[in-house]
Amino acid sequence: MSELLPLSPDEVLSTTRAVRKRLDLQRPVPREIVAECIALAMQAPNGSNMNAWRFVAVDDRATVARMAAIYDAAMEDQIRSLGHATGENYAGASIPGAQQIGESVQYLREHMAEVPVLVVPVFAGRTEGASLFMQASLWGSIVQSVWSFMLALRPRGLGSCWTTVHLHREREMAELLGIPAHYTQAGLFPVAYTLGTGFSPAWRRPVDEVLFWNVFGRGSG
Ligand SMILES: Cc1cc2nc3c(=O)[nH]c(=O)nc-3n(C[C@H](O)[C@H](O)[C@H](O)COP(=O)(O)O)c2cc1C
Repeated sequence: MSELLPLSPDEVLSTTRAVRKRLDLQRPVPREIVAECIALAMQAPNGSNMNAWRFVAVDDRATVARMAAIYDAAMEDQIRSLGHATGENYAGASIPGAQQIGESVQYLREHMAEVPVLVVPVFAGRTEGASLFMQASLWGSIVQSVWSFMLALRPRGLGSCWTTVHLHREREMAELLGIPAHYTQAGLFPVAYTLGTGFSPAWRRPVDEVLFWNVFGRGSG
């Protein structure tokens, strides 16, 4: 078992950030640490306890480079798909820190090939045309598992960033990694030690704005 940073559960929950610029691209990540965090991720709840999660962890440098190229091309797809909704027209432009997020996203895009380990979580089944029940069950059986993985990295001094951009080119990634067609990829997760271990809570909407009691739209009054 790895040595853990002295963080309370609340500190882990409030300081597990999207780490991009502070990924240590020089320090190798032992496979055992990835396995330890996946073991914790496997404790997440999942529909009928089917354990339909699979995680493809990649540390082969040539494969990482090809994954980074897919991510880069998909980022171009994403920018193209935004059309005129860029710059000040971008829906997220008014979010506090939007410019820093943009710079950080660009940094990860440029350095993805140098990240020690890339993890692609997948689940058995496809959601295209599926009922809402099926969609919620399939996504609901992977998301918290992956978030547990990210939370488990944090006290071990590692970090990641939830990314979905490459899903514009999901099939290309599936072919590269040999993922069967009936599996759905949930995202791409860079894994590295972090440069320093101090992280802070980020801006989020205040609870008063998002928590309603008894009727949607009604605050505590
Ligand atoms: C579903 C989802 C998709 C995301 N996709 C990307 C992505 O493709 N690339 C990226 O650099 N960050 C991506 N992010 C990270 C978000 O930009 C980040 O979580 C957000 O800016 C808040 O930062 P914080 O988590 O450090 O508070 C994604 C996050 C989520 C939850």
